[in-house]
Amino acid sequence: MQVLPLTGGLGAELTGADICDPGQFPALQEAFARYSVIVIRGQDHVTPEDHLAFARRFGPIDVNRFFKSVDGYPEIATVLKEADQKEAVGEGWHTDHSYDQEPAMGSILRAVEMPPYGGDTVFASTAQAYDTLSPPMQAFLETLSAWHSSSHVFGAAAADSEAVRSGRLGNADAATQTVCHPVVIRHPLSGRKCLFVNPVFTTRIRELSEAESDALLQMLYAHCQQPELHCRVRWQQGDVTMWDNRATWHKAINDYHGFRRFMHRVTVQGCAIAGNMG
Ligand code: SIN
Repeated sequence: MQVLPLTGGLGAELTGADICDPGQFPALQEAFARYSVIVIRGQDHVTPEDHLAFARRFGPIDVNRFFKSVDGYPEIATVLKEADQKEAVGEGWHTDHSYDQEPAMGSILRAVEMPPYGGDTVFASTAQAYDTLSPPMQAFLETLSAWHSSSHVFGAAAADSEAVRSGRLGNADAATQTVCHPVVIRHPLSGRKCLFVNPVFTTRIRELSEAESDALLQMLYAHCQQPELHCRVRWQQGDVTMWDNRATWHKAINDYHGFRRFMHRVTVQGCAIAGNMG
């Protein structure tokens, strides 16, 4: 197996690997812990059962409440954009399931059908984002916590979106999660400090006024959008990419109108996350 780092900050491309081979799991797990995003090329042979078995080696499956599932596989979410659709699911920078008390550990996406061009996924390192802030700002952020919610994204407010109207997203009544997490968390595996706010699900910094919260979040979001903190995955059909939700943001690039893009996503449960606030 060859492991080729994609950037200096996060992401690695793995060739000669097979997610179905339990003997390779320790090496894949090590690469995941080290790079936060691993792109495992050439997994065309992988079945939905293999995908689930690989995910279960990391931990129990976290079934998404809102994505339409793959027929016959309630634990696998479809990430789909048809040729005649305009909106892609996951277009905004986000961290999957940050609105849960125990946010998901990671997600594993398999490219089933890709457009002839475009449809990349971009990732940002929230560990590097924290590291590149000034010490006074780091210290201030460590005193703060933030609310995250699912309701404005998946609840009644989203009823008019194309993703809901087309049936790709649903179950709006289940969008009741609102939780508070530290703005800076200690990564459960690496111990590194990571920013834990994101533009899609974070609604407000608890300790600040609304205006202060908005201004601070906008500053942090602009900081995280620097390309130096990113890696970009150019997919090939059959690829499997796994990312760590506690150490990254991601965003699906919607630049392939007129073509179908179809992915299977399995998400792995996480644990409670903590900062330095006690
Ligand atoms: C997601 O946000 O989980 C999907 C990302 C993608 O489709 O590239």
